[in-house]
Amino acid sequence: PTADLACVLAGARVMPVLTVPSPASAGPLAEALAAGGARCAEVTFRTPGAEQVLKTMAAHGGLTVGAGTVLTAGQAERAVAVGARFVVSPGFDEEVVAKCRELGVPVVPGIATATELMRALKAGLDTVKLFPAEPLGGLRTLRALAAPFPGTHFVPTGGIDAPRLAAYLAHPAVLAVGGSWMATADHLDRGDYAEIRRLTAEAVDRSMT
Ligand code: 3PG
Repeated sequence: PTADLACVLAGARVMPVLTVPSPASAGPLAEALAAGGARCAEVTFRTPGAEQVLKTMAAHGGLTVGAGTVLTAGQAERAVAVGARFVVSPGFDEEVVAKCRELGVPVVPGIATATELMRALKAGLDTVKLFPAEPLGGLRTLRALAAPFPGTHFVPTGGIDAPRLAAYLAHPAVLAVGGSWMATADHLDRGDYAEIRRLTAEAVDRSMT
């Protein structure tokens, strides 16, 4: 089943970006995120167990789970096969976009310049990830980049944390903000699901102010 991504993101406002070393963490992680009030999550394809993690988290049912760090059409295919409801990429790749379209799954490519954004628009997309948001100049860059492209939606991600969340979300073109600060490799190493839940709840709370 495909997700109406704009709807999911606009409803969620915060997207935990997860790099999960061990598939054993997937169940408790999904539980902690859902308990903290998260509505969606992005599982990055940066670990060998990512497909299993995605499968387990998607089966949890409380979250709309997508795949992140999808660099190739093959990865997009494997992600969707294990239950990814959307696909996120750090950059814009026509083959990834075409594959997602063929699979009927929404895709959010990363863009860092107006030229990349124009390529994404030309490919028929209207939602992009501004990546890496903070190193690119943060909200100031987002504002300048969004201005010439009315109707384009952004999911800024990269270097964002709880204190910066609300300012990004206040921009009318921002659907949601992504980030790893709610569930880091360190939290997962320690099995600190209570902290993941707490940071998720804090982010959800700040996203509603
Ligand atoms: C991503 O893949 O979207 C980023 O790694 C998330 O960025 P962050 O780790 O700086 O939050």
